Amino acid sequence: MKNIIFIISVIAIVSACSKEQSDTSQQATANSTVSKTTANVAAIKTYDMPASQADFEFARVARGGKLYKENCAKCHGANAEGTPDWRVRKPDGKLKPPPLNGTGHAWHHSKALLMSIITEGSIGKGGDMPAWGKKLTQDEIDAVLTWVQSKWPEEIYKNWLEINRR
Ligand code: HEC
Repeated sequence: MKNIIFIISVIAIVSACSKEQSDTSQQATANSTVSKTTANVAAIKTYDMPASQADFEFARVARGGKLYKENCAKCHGANAEGTPDWRVRKPDGKLKPPPLNGTGHAWHHSKALLMSIITEGSIGKGGDMPAWGKKLTQDEIDAVLTWVQSKWPEEIYKNWLEINRR
């Protein structure tokens, strides 16, 4: 298992762009155990997770990332960082797209609730989040969530696993 994870990390690092590479080496210097490249976080999670949740393979994260870029990035940001002042409502009282990268509230919701928020959206229910149920399959939405979760710091992900178990 460790070998597979190592290979996945190496492939990811080799294919990462040069900026990410320099970020990675800085982080690696700062902290040799927790590198926050997507694939490394994903790999650590795969290692820690119960088998039913162990779907953070590089291919699935990459597929989710592609779908995210096509459908979600224009509102939630290229790296799921959300709108800078997302806590301040718009003049019409609606929310701005929040971060999904672990710095917002998304990780307080169970997998089932996250799936339904994305499937059903909130247009017509007081919000601006489009419904994706007709455009994306449940498996595609699940893959997008896998990519989103690969952005979460390890501690946030562990806390979410507890929330999701309840
Ligand atoms: C047109 C802009 C827009 C697009 C595109 C969009 N969203 Fe959203 N999203 C929002 C807004 C605005 C909210 C805030 C809640 C609301 O208005 O209902 C939100 C909320 C969410 C939430 C709940 C977050 C929380 O903290 O509770 C999730 C999860 C989410 N979006 C995921 C996605 C995913 C995944 C995609 C792509 C498949 C996507 N969104 C595409 C605007 C968008």
